[in-house]
Amino acid sequence: MFYDRVESTNDLAKAMALEGAENGTVIIAEEQTSGRGRMGRKWLSPPSSNLLFSLLLRPDLYTEKVFTLTMLLALSTVEAVETQTEVNTMIKWPNDIYVQDRKLAGILTEFSVTGNRLNHVVLGIGINVNWNPEEATGSHMLYPATSLMREAGHTVSREFLLINILSAYETHYMDVSKNGPARVQELWNKKSMLTGRNVSVEISNNEVINGTAIGIDEKGALLVSDIKGQTHTILNGDVHIKNVT
Ligand code: BTN
Repeated sequence: MFYDRVESTNDLAKAMALEGAENGTVIIAEEQTSGRGRMGRKWLSPPSSNLLFSLLLRPDLYTEKVFTLTMLLALSTVEAVETQTEVNTMIKWPNDIYVQDRKLAGILTEFSVTGNRLNHVVLGIGINVNWNPEEATGSHMLYPATSLMREAGHTVSREFLLINILSAYETHYMDVSKNGPARVQELWNKKSMLTGRNVSVEISNNEVINGTAIGIDEKGALLVSDIKGQTHTILNGDVHIKNVT
């Protein structure tokens, strides 16, 4: 479903889920007045420039598998960008897409559970497409941003990008349902910008884990080996890449 202006496509998708919207519903907006990012942050995007959408899923899965669905969206986006442009993107765990050290896209996954099973899942993604990030520098910019137009040197069709992402998502989703997450995990790890890098991961309660990122496991958790050789399995957090001096 297509909207000119909504508060947040994730909020609308969640409301529609409660009213019985079906598995696979896609909510797209030209503009969001209260776009949200991870960790309570805002997601700002000028009208009619970028791709902002949410995918509603009703998978028959244990709650712990939810990150696999996010992994699929990050991977599908990377592949769709590569189908359509020459731009080389990488995934920054848990679910950001980068071109070198600039953020191109982010994913916000929200879900409801019944018992230990998923009820509905909303995967919201914002991709900077035909936008000039230089125009948007301000206090809200937590990190350097980029867009496909900036990287490719020309405008990029948002319609085709959406179609390419959804079609890759469907292919991977069916593969995971049939064969498990090993293949997606492998493809994701190949596109991970963290593997082998020194990282500092902020997890809950101000706890920080420092070490070398090894990759992600089949549930989408980040594996970090610390200085003592102990491996930490991290399900949620904010990663900073440390420069080697
Ligand atoms: C992040 O990087 O923190 C995640 C950003 C997610 C933004 C998208 S835009 C479409 C959907 N609706 C929202 O309110 N947020 C997500």
